[in-house]
Amino acid sequence: MNIAIFASGGGSNADTIIQHFKHIKNISVRLVVTNNPKAGVLRVADFHQVPFEIITKSMLYDSSDVLSLMKQYEIDFIALAGFLWWVPDNILNEYQGSIVNIHPSLLPKYGGKGMYGHHIHEAVHRSKDTYTGLTIHHVTEEYDAGQIIVQVKCPVYASDTPQDIGRRVLAFEHAVYPRTIQFLIEDRNP
Ligand code: GAR
Repeated sequence: MNIAIFASGGGSNADTIIQHFKHIKNISVRLVVTNNPKAGVLRVADFHQVPFEIITKSMLYDSSDVLSLMKQYEIDFIALAGFLWWVPDNILNEYQGSIVNIHPSLLPKYGGKGMYGHHIHEAVHRSKDTYTGLTIHHVTEEYDAGQIIVQVKCPVYASDTPQDIGRRVLAFEHAVYPRTIQFLIEDRNP
């Protein structure tokens, strides 16, 4: 089984996913896809010698080029990890149930367009919430609205800065996302 990771940023989740599947029989990360030629995730892919592809908006939205890439690399499962563009129907239809996203809040709180990365942790901090967390969910056309698979709750302490909150949530993401992807793939392909 081959996984593609779609990411737009630093790629710390991509790093932990790639590392995790190095030790798992029959499942591997085959491809990293990014929309951002300067994304740190490219260094991660390079370091682990995973092929990568840089895509443009027109490749994703005006053609079937990205779907063709998925076929070319024989991708069975797509994990979004900090990927900031919405995913069009042609890909969603082909990968129904096999395309998931991780979001650094307890959805439906702090979800939707514009709610990503530090914006979320700043909003949690402003609201003086005592809990936050992460959500792994199926991907649909609407941002952060697909069926929830896993949520992990973690505390926010009164002394936390937004950066502290972000660090804690990200650490939980790294602990949970690779195992959840493995579980989903094995669950659907017993
Ligand atoms: C992660 O916290 C991920 O949950 C978040 O972006 C970060 C990417 O970090 N995703 C979203 O906010 C999606 N709405 P990384 O590039 O270090 O993996």
